[in-house]
Amino acid sequence: MPNSERVKIIAGNWKMNKTIQEAIDFIHQLTPLIRDAEAKVFLAVPYTAIHACSEAANDTSIVIGAQNMHEAEEGAFTGEISAKMIKEAGATFVILGHSERRQFFHETNALINKKIKLAIKHHLSPILCIGETLDEREKSMTEQVLAVQLRECLEGIQESEAASLIIAYEPIWAIGTGKTATPEMAQATHAFCRHFLKERFGEKISSQMILQYGGSVKPESAAALLTQKDIDGALVGGASLNADTFARIVNDH
Ligand code: PGA
Repeated sequence: MPNSERVKIIAGNWKMNKTIQEAIDFIHQLTPLIRDAEAKVFLAVPYTAIHACSEAANDTSIVIGAQNMHEAEEGAFTGEISAKMIKEAGATFVILGHSERRQFFHETNALINKKIKLAIKHHLSPILCIGETLDEREKSMTEQVLAVQLRECLEGIQESEAASLIIAYEPIWAIGTGKTATPEMAQATHAFCRHFLKERFGEKISSQMILQYGGSVKPESAAALLTQKDIDGALVGGASLNADTFARIVNDH
């Protein structure tokens, strides 16, 4: 499937930002700005704002999701949030395995794999984040690292389940640093990921899967990245916090 047939998905990842009121105000500001957008717009909002955001986004094309969830259905896990809870609150997708979760909360590929399976069971589309450190890139280990992440995180996932899966390639050295991979570098890595997915799920499914790029995506860098053959969208952190800036990324490509 040529790139032009895959609808682009631009997802904002707000991380630990915005109160409920700030989130609602953002959606009201963003809605008219993206009225003519060809890309789909996802917002991964804090747990506390999922319900209010899904109501505020009800008559819009904006899709609301969560940034994480626990790997168990329910139980004695003080402070944790389940798949069923985020779903009921209005989330339709969930970011899993973000590098900040891997780094600060010690999430492993095996744990992320459990979360992916549970998300799929609850009909939540996972956005699986993968990416290498600067050290790994400099040692030419990028493909090796990504192959391990993809293999272990997708262990046991069936072909029929893979279609709802989004992969976000986010080089860790580009997250929040202002350093973006060059479009050529990002395309080469995306092509590697798509090839891996082709071997894993077959030509048809892999050609339909959405592969997002993430890491310091800004209005200035978005268009060159988003016109690459295997880049089907972006996962945007810092630049998704301002409605005007985010709308430029959604519209300008
Ligand atoms: P950034 O974050 O755009 O601020 O680099 C991206 C992400 O962490 O998803």
